[in-house]
Amino acid sequence: MENKTKPNGSANLSIGGKTVELPVYSGTVGPNVIDVKSLYAQTGMFTLDPGFTSTASCESQITYIDGDEGVLLYRGYPIDQLADNSSFLEVCYLLTHGELPSSEALADYTYTITHHTMLHTQLDRFFDGYRRDAHPMAVMVGTVGALSAFYHDSTDINDPIQRMIATHRLIAKMPTIAARAHKYSTGQPFVSPRNDLSYSENFLRMCFAVPAEEYEVNPVLAKAMDKIFILHADHEQNASTSTVRLAGSSGANPFACIAAGIACLWGPSHGGANEAALNMLREIGSVDRIPEFVRRAKDKDDPFRLMGFGHRVYKNYDPRAKVMQETCHEVLDVLDKRDEPLLQVAMELERIALEDEYFVSKKLYPNIDFYSGITLNALGFPTEMYTVLFALARTVGWIAQWEEMTTDPTQRIGRPRQIYTGAAQRDYVPLSQR
Ligand code: SDX
Repeated sequence: MENKTKPNGSANLSIGGKTVELPVYSGTVGPNVIDVKSLYAQTGMFTLDPGFTSTASCESQITYIDGDEGVLLYRGYPIDQLADNSSFLEVCYLLTHGELPSSEALADYTYTITHHTMLHTQLDRFFDGYRRDAHPMAVMVGTVGALSAFYHDSTDINDPIQRMIATHRLIAKMPTIAARAHKYSTGQPFVSPRNDLSYSENFLRMCFAVPAEEYEVNPVLAKAMDKIFILHADHEQNASTSTVRLAGSSGANPFACIAAGIACLWGPSHGGANEAALNMLREIGSVDRIPEFVRRAKDKDDPFRLMGFGHRVYKNYDPRAKVMQETCHEVLDVLDKRDEPLLQVAMELERIALEDEYFVSKKLYPNIDFYSGITLNALGFPTEMYTVLFALARTVGWIAQWEEMTTDPTQRIGRPRQIYTGAAQRDYVPLSQR
């Protein structure tokens, strides 16, 4: 990746009577950055930024977010335009190659991904080691990590061909693994992928077909699934992407790095929020109980939070949440579930929260996880599968960011420092004297 930041003056820092000059860089769009990598050498001091609220960890050309304006761009293209006009596989090509494909390139890419969807048959036996009631995210972490035990011919990160094959394998096999995680929990037989189906049609069939009868994919639901995957594909340097980059900075193989990303995504503050948001809507149960839960969300002494609300970056409506809400209505309409009680609770909760001073003052808006659970519930997925679907879609973003980091000539192993507030050096006290 050629460096595209441009010098834009400098920032002067006065410390202990000494002035330190630090370069400032500008990107294509968005906040400038102060390059502090020489700070410790010049001052013997570190910066401190737990949670990285003011820290840019890298230069990237993949995804741009403007949290104040509610803007999300994949390689410059607005998320709503891609959701309305593109397909998930075309977005995978865009994120990993940097440009939209020609029709020929898209056909070739689709053929390649389609012909990587099968799993090594020994991997199917791997599932037998899990309990049937294991959370499917635990299954995903274990099984994706185990891919590096099967595909030794695509783990050399210094070989661009092997990196490309690993990228294709991960994008292609995540739906097959995710569907197997679901089938395994139900006790139903695994369903093999079919090459005559689109990416999302294949996934829905692998999840819901049974050998006892023919399964016809509903094209409206397949389109909705594809759109949901597009919305979740990438999101700048979020916690799980940063995890993948940090794991990759040590030279770990791509399958291990993606497994690390899946583990991080599982947390309820991150990708696990879609499962938590639906469980919250179920707990609220009816519109008349909403005030009680809004009160709890505002109570500092109550750990309860409105799941699916708030975001580190978006201080405006998450643009993905708008598309997600539209998709939710489309799915409920086609399934004749438009009077779904959970949707009524969600819409009333959103209305109340967006008028409440607490949420308005803290700029807490619905995020992508608020409506996704209702949609996935209507599509027939159990709650535990929601974060698995998030991980399935986010794999392309993780691997695109991993590839960008791996090919960045300036990248070094990530190794943050700390401010130490523990015990100063002291001598060991023998047991007899304690
Ligand atoms: C995702 O980073 C990404 O891009 C992530 C993601 C992606 O695509 O990768 O967008 C996906 O993870 C979306 C976020 C899903 N998580 C949730 O919906 C869980 C609920 N939301 C939060 O826990 C919280 O909003 C976070 C974790 C999303 C953001 O946390 P921050 O930026 O650290 O903000 P914070 O927790 O410091 O909250 C700021 C204030 C606090 O009050 P004060 O201490 O300032 O008084 O807002 C309050 C919080 O108490 N607050 C909430 C709230 N979220 C924040 N109060 C009630 N309900 C909430 N949901």
